[in-house]
Amino acid sequence: KSRKRQLLYEVNEKVVTIFRRTLLASDMAKSARAYLEERKIPPAVQERFGLGYAPSPDSAGWNFLGAQLAAEEKLVAVEAGLLVEKESGGTYDRFRDRVLFPIYDRRGRVVGFGGRIIGEGQPKYMNSPESLVFNKSASLLGLYQQGDEIRRRRKAIVVEGNFDLVSLVVHGCPNVVAPLGTALTAQQLRMLKGFSEECVLLFDGDTAGVKAAMRSVPLFLSEQIAGKVALLPTGHDPDTFVREEGLAALNTLLDKAMPLPEFVLQQLVAEYGLTSYDGKIRIIKELQPLIKATTSPLQRSLMLSHFSEAIGISPDELGASMPGREATVR
Ligand code: CTP
Ligand code: MN
Ligand code: MN
Ligand code: MN
Ligand code: MN
Repeated sequence: KSRKRQLLYEVNEKVVTIFRRTLLASDMAKSARAYLEERKIPPAVQERFGLGYAPSPDSAGWNFLGAQLAAEEKLVAVEAGLLVEKESGGTYDRFRDRVLFPIYDRRGRVVGFGGRIIGEGQPKYMNSPESLVFNKSASLLGLYQQGDEIRRRRKAIVVEGNFDLVSLVVHGCPNVVAPLGTALTAQQLRMLKGFSEECVLLFDGDTAGVKAAMRSVPLFLSEQIAGKVALLPTGHDPDTFVREEGLAALNTLLDKAMPLPEFVLQQLVAEYGLTSYDGKIRIIKELQPLIKATTSPLQRSLMLSHFSEAIGISPDELGASMPGREATVR
């Protein structure tokens, strides 16, 4: 099994080289190079993240990768999801006409790839399927490259997307990572905890971004990581924001990041209001799972006093209103 893992790393590594060389030198990659230039990712940062290009079938056919691999390597590439088996036998390329981001583990081994289509089209992003070496919920894009900066700055900034990550690095905000288009997981938070105690969520300025931040709160509480949220203006993501407004504006926004419990309360108050009993009861009900998720007694009592003050109920009553205790809120 460890032999098999080793082979997967080796083939992935070889494929990084192939896609990288294609991006740098092939005539087929003109549109990809122009695309990265348009997105303001300079060659040095492309290099840092190992960016490559998987050519279009129009110019390279459907067997671009397969044609460059030995028979045994092709079997491994199928396992890695780089090649797809045809019903009729043979294989074809999974990634076509996409800019590819290798996904590295903490030790710099390539576990998979994420690919963005050039310009418009569906699906916008495509990731390698999970394999013996690739577990999405235990991977963080950028941790290998930016982990040292996260340590140095004692803070990890978590963004949603591939280009948010590289764009922030381009613009001078280097302590950044991204999950792979999924909600943050407990595993990812535990990985981050090994690098810094503080974590700032910088998600897209849309309802999906706010929801993603809200969903992650119980994880932060149970993992005992100090999480904050920085909110981007509606319609912006970290990439567009830093490009249009610059690093100073981004830092101002990050400095104003709100601790997660405060953020949750603010969101709930905005949603349900504190002017009616009904609203208060809804808010209390939504806060209960968070208080329950809290594994630190100190954090728990801080949250109880903070929430209860805002709602206008005593901390004891708020604590007592939790299901499983005598009194319950209905
Ligand atoms: N994502 C994905 N599959 C999709 C859409 C998104 O895996 N079909 C992941 C990608 O990692 C993407 C992230 O979710 O970077 C955030 O999605 P979104 O905000 O929609 O894309 P952007 O990162 O803003 O993409 P871009 O700037 O390249 O348009
Ligand atoms: Mn988004
Ligand atoms: Mn974007
Ligand atoms: Mn986005
Ligand atoms: Mn703007």
